[in-house]
Amino acid sequence: MTVLSEDVLKEIVSVRKKYPEATGAVMPALYIVQREFGYLSFDAYEVVSNALNLPRTIVKGVGTFYAMYRHEPAGRNLIQLCTNVSCMILGAERLVDFLKNKYGLEPGGTTTDKRFSLMIMECIGACGTAPAMLVNDDLHENLSEKSIEDILEKYK
Ligand code: FES
Repeated sequence: MTVLSEDVLKEIVSVRKKYPEATGAVMPALYIVQREFGYLSFDAYEVVSNALNLPRTIVKGVGTFYAMYRHEPAGRNLIQLCTNVSCMILGAERLVDFLKNKYGLEPGGTTTDKRFSLMIMECIGACGTAPAMLVNDDLHENLSEKSIEDILEKYK
């Protein structure tokens, strides 16, 4: 059974207060739980459902609909690489190939040493400095094969 710390439960309660309806807080609450555990387990839906006093089917429906929620344990560092139009035009697909060849990292996958997981994203709002990616909470822009390699060196 997933057990949330008091601080995380307080954070969910605080998020809930920002919305007139509990359903508005489902996405941020799931994000908080995912941040805490790295992914959403079956239990996570139960926990959020109890915290927001909503049916589990509603919470699970949201969690399984959106691509930003993970359902498998992630690596220590999450790479979110944009391959939408601006990034694609400027070489994002080459970067996907690079991550596969250099790190054995497939979209949706995790390296065997659990150092990195990769998610392919739609636009992350950095089109002017494409191609771009997030590593955990850090934005990296104007990417090339070489710069990705240098950047990823910093994440152990
Ligand atoms: S298209 Fe990649 S950041 Fe917008």
